[in-house]
Amino acid sequence: MRRMDIYIDTANLDEIRQAASLGVLDGVTTNPSLVSKEGNVQFHDHLRAICELVPGPVSAEVVATDHDQMVTEAEQLAQIADNIVIKVPCTVDGLRACKSLSDQGIRTNMTLCFQPMQALFVAKAGAFLVSPFVGRVDDISGDGMELISQIRQIYDNYGFSTKILSASIRHPTHVVQSAMLGADVATIPFKVIGQLMNHPLTDIGLERFLADWKKVH
Ligand code: G3P
Repeated sequence: MRRMDIYIDTANLDEIRQAASLGVLDGVTTNPSLVSKEGNVQFHDHLRAICELVPGPVSAEVVATDHDQMVTEAEQLAQIADNIVIKVPCTVDGLRACKSLSDQGIRTNMTLCFQPMQALFVAKAGAFLVSPFVGRVDDISGDGMELISQIRQIYDNYGFSTKILSASIRHPTHVVQSAMLGADVATIPFKVIGQLMNHPLTDIGLERFLADWKKVH
């Protein structure tokens, strides 16, 4: 039985706290751009604080670009907490690092995935998560959801257990489509999480119910 996990895509502690309070948050993804938005925080301390807020997987990205340095950096990040998942880019060195880390039992989130063969190779290398960036594909007039669908089919064809994490989500429709196509996880910016329970007819309907109730009570 498949389940869809909901992660928040941010490094902001307040946003993570608020999202966690909804009771449906399963994990967190960060990246160097998101961490930089938090100012000059101490990276490892900041990640530790995030890991204390959310028991599920917390993705922390390496900034090295060659295999050996990626692995060294990843091993240090993995010491921070048991729920750290190492984000590694879908490059050739990243693929090799994915294999080295998976062999040691360190979970990886293979990021910056833009085509299905990257997803096939990282699954073969033992990735825990793969992150197709749907919004950035759409930004250049591609079809981000087609990428999710291709990866889903390939993984199902061969029974790969790597989880498809729909990333770079821009709006609620991306989340709906990810769920319909069978993405295992959607990592969602705080603003979009806030939009997911909204519908004007819900608000209007509730207003009417309460007004009718008040007329007689
Ligand atoms: O998780 C990856 C995501 O943060 C990228 O999003 O909006 O920078 O394309 P974006």
